[in-house]
Amino acid sequence: MNEYNLAELRRALSPAALYYWTEIPSTNSWALEQIAGQHLIPPAVVLTANQTAGRGRMGRHWQSDVGGLTCSWVLERPRNATNQQPVPVGRLAIATAIAVFHTLAQWLGREKLKVKWPNDILVAEQKICGILIESVIGPTPIDVIGIGINVNLRPLPELNKCRSASETNEPLRKTTSVLDQLGHSVALTEVLTTLHQQLIQNTRRLENSWEELRQDYQSQMFGKQYWMRLETPQGPAEGKCLGIDDQGALIIETMLGPRVIVAGSVVEWIDRGD
Ligand code: BTN
Repeated sequence: MNEYNLAELRRALSPAALYYWTEIPSTNSWALEQIAGQHLIPPAVVLTANQTAGRGRMGRHWQSDVGGLTCSWVLERPRNATNQQPVPVGRLAIATAIAVFHTLAQWLGREKLKVKWPNDILVAEQKICGILIESVIGPTPIDVIGIGINVNLRPLPELNKCRSASETNEPLRKTTSVLDQLGHSVALTEVLTTLHQQLIQNTRRLENSWEELRQDYQSQMFGKQYWMRLETPQGPAEGKCLGIDDQGALIIETMLGPRVIVAGSVVEWIDRGD
C-alpha cells in the first residue's frame, strides 16, 4: 500500500516527467534547485516515499513518515484566456485546495471535508493536508506546488492525532489521516493519480472559469461567517470571515470595516452564530 507503482504513475502523469526518490529532504527544495540550475522543465512531478526535512508555510517544518503522500508539481502558471496574463498566485492556491478537496472526497466523502483558507484541508476540524506553493518569477512564472497529505499514517495517542503536520505554535493543531478516518490503508498510487488529474483540471479552470472556481471554494470553505484570529506577516488580525476576493485573498469584517488578508494562517475561530 505504501509503495508506488512507478510504471503506472509514469503513464498516468504523462506528459509530466516523474522524478522519484526513495528518500529526499524536501521535494519542493529539490525542485527549486533544479529549476535554478535549468535542469527541470515543467511539467514535472517530484515524489518521494520518505521526506526527511519537509517545509511548511510561514517557515514551518512539515513532518511526515512513510505512508504520507509528499509530492511537488512543477507547472507553468496558467494564463487568463481573456488577457493572456499569468493568473495571480492566490488564485492558484485556491485551485490547488479545490483539487485536493475533490481528491479526498473520493475516499472520505464531501460531508466532513472543508478547506481552511488559504489551502489547508480539514476533516471535522482536523488537518489532513498542507500545501506550500513557491514560485520562480519570470515572463511565465513557474510554480512548485508542494502537497503533503496524511494518507496511510498511524494515529498517535498524544496531542497530534497522527504524525504529519506543520510544527507550529498554533493552539489548534489536531491532525488526522485517511487511515485514521477509514480504519484501513488505501493505495498511494491511486491517490496520486487522482490528485494529478484534479490538479490539471482545476488549474485549467483558472484560464476561463475563475468565478465558478471561487464559488466552488467558498461553498466548501471552513469558517465562513465565523469570527477568526489570524497570524499574518504584518502581525495578528481578527474579524468575521466573509469569503475570498478576486485574487484569492481572505476578506474579514473587522471593527474598522472590511480588511483583505493576502498572507497568513487562521489560528483560532469561534462560531458566534451571527
Ligand atoms: C503547511 O501546511 O504548512 C504546508 C505543508 C506542505 C508540505 C509539502 S510535502 C511536499 C512538499 N515538500 C515540502 O518540503 N513541503 C511540501
